[in-house]
Amino acid sequence: MTPHNQAQPGEIAPIVLMPGDPLRAKYIAEHYLDDAVCFNTVRNMFGYTGTYKGTRISVMGSGMGMPSIGIYSYELYTTYHVEAIIRIGSCGAYSPDLHTFDILAADSCWSPSTYAQAQSGDTRDIQYPDQNLLHTIEMTAQQLNIPLHIGRLHSSDVFYYEEGINNGAAEHNCMAVEMESFALFHNADITHKKAACLCTVSDSFVYDEDTTPQQRETSFQDMMKLALEAARK
Ligand code: ADE
Repeated sequence: MTPHNQAQPGEIAPIVLMPGDPLRAKYIAEHYLDDAVCFNTVRNMFGYTGTYKGTRISVMGSGMGMPSIGIYSYELYTTYHVEAIIRIGSCGAYSPDLHTFDILAADSCWSPSTYAQAQSGDTRDIQYPDQNLLHTIEMTAQQLNIPLHIGRLHSSDVFYYEEGINNGAAEHNCMAVEMESFALFHNADITHKKAACLCTVSDSFVYDEDTTPQQRETSFQDMMKLALEAARK
């Protein structure tokens, strides 16, 4: 047990899917997992373990931002011996190639965040997912006929920027912005575990294509299916 997770040893599967929203974790458990059992309710950061087509899989909310996913993913890797985490989140599209509900798998993420440096002295501003896990996700998308964009994410500490601020993402060729992958990839790196990040485009900086919270909670079926099928490989 940790201050943030009441799960007992063995209650969490070696692979965990992490949406930002704990209610989405509940939704996935209720709609996709057989025999799902809730292992965490601390701070309502719900976590469940069940089986998907016979494979034991856990799903747990990460909360928003790097400090939050930093805590939960670190504890999953170290206390609960989790081997791989696939973040299944949302992102805001910078690229005109991305439209609402498109799915992007990160091949890297850039961040000006101090998370990695503060945590371990790692000064790199680009972090990477596990290459094999990313490859598995790409192959799975092809098999399922799910269109998948691959590219770099901007992992931001800020959601609301002041007008006129250059956040640096354009200079670093980022296709979209979210707020968690940099800390997740870094934690996987220092613990010698695996991580990947899938995001559904929930909003666009190019097109007028906002989604409602209801759509955000229920309309990520392709991404969930892709993550679940990749997780059982
Ligand atoms: N996640 C989804 N949309 C986002 C945005 N516009 N900025 C940061 N994170 C996001």
